[in-house]
Amino acid sequence: MAWKKVRWPAILLAAFLGGMLLMSAAAARERACIPFHLKTEDGKIINPLTGENADQPYSPRQTCGPCHNYDEITKGYHFQQGWDVIKDDFGIAKGNPWVLSDGMLGKF
Ligand code: HEC
Repeated sequence: MAWKKVRWPAILLAAFLGGMLLMSAAAARERACIPFHLKTEDGKIINPLTGENADQPYSPRQTCGPCHNYDEITKGYHFQQGWDVIKDDFGIAKGNPWVLSDGMLGKF
């Protein structure tokens, strides 16, 4: 029967694809943040379940900063979007006086 001929290749292919799936699932898990509390600007825990500081805004510096390099991230192009270079004469030298930065800030 034809099934007997294709059985081993089919089993090997299924094992290979299953292995790839497990590896990608494991890789995706590794890249996730471990559980943490949201924190206020002065470092207090925000707990919406108990209402503790639930009326306070969360601070990315206090919340994410202990594990991620907050100062490096906030210098990034996609974070700044031109805020770090915006000025009235930014585009004059290139003949585009209406352009005020290299990001979305100051663009039409
Ligand atoms: C308790 C430590 C911790 C805190 C707090 C934390 N993270 Fe993470 N985060 C991690 C770890 C560990 C990873 C996985 C890093 C890796 O292996 O690439 C991660 C990964 C990430 C990634 C994915 C990076 C990538 O390469 O895909 C993003 C985005 C991220 N964190 C954003 C945040 C933000 C935003 C906050 C604050 C709201 C935050 N994290 C708070 C530990 C933390």
